Amino acid sequence: MSAASDPPLFVGVIALDGPAASGKGTIAKRLAARYGLPHLDTGLLYRGVGAAMRARGAALENAAEAARCAACLDTSTLDDPALRSVSAGQDASIVAAYPEVRAALLKVQRDFAARPGGAVIDGRDIGMVVCPTAKRKIFVTADVDVRAKRRALELSARGETADLAQIQAALEERDRRDRERSVSPLLAPPDAHLLDTTNLDIERSVARAIAFVER
Ligand code: C5P
Repeated sequence: MSAASDPPLFVGVIALDGPAASGKGTIAKRLAARYGLPHLDTGLLYRGVGAAMRARGAALENAAEAARCAACLDTSTLDDPALRSVSAGQDASIVAAYPEVRAALLKVQRDFAARPGGAVIDGRDIGMVVCPTAKRKIFVTADVDVRAKRRALELSARGETADLAQIQAALEERDRRDRERSVSPLLAPPDAHLLDTTNLDIERSVARAIAFVER
């Protein structure tokens, strides 16, 4: 049992990276709750930029406009459930490839990471670019067919239609775009702990992440 005067279990930045539907978002939320740390889902920033482009009627190919949207992104609007859709994820991965967009979002992420006490931050380039000195880095992966099934379950739980083959194809396309882009591609930091959740349910995945953070 812990008392209010007990020292915190962890202080510092925990950086989680990995492809879509690997489990990193849920693990990040659970770690944040356990350690009483603020959590930033950086994918939402890129989703927000994609949505702002759509709202302005701008073509996603317009890098200069995307950079403007990133520079004036209103982070208080990022709890809109529409940002969680499959198409918002695809749009995000297009605008995320522009160096100007990434540069504009870097300060928001670094400011968040600099909060006293620390933070839990998840995304694609957190351990490599945003917080290279993070105290703990975890790279979460899972086979794409398992990730597609998880995403399909999530969508059908929200009442959305979910065609497994289409979901897998969309994940593969997004993975490819995220891995092959020239700026901040998705890759495992060499100093990250690798957590493959292919054969793990969420409880076991969280338990492994906690064991790593506290070891
Ligand atoms: O994590 P999520 O699926 O919400 O991310 C949406 C997209 O945003 C990713 O596919 C990726 O292109 C981009 N992203 C990124 N860097 C991050 C977080 C997300 O490029 N740190």
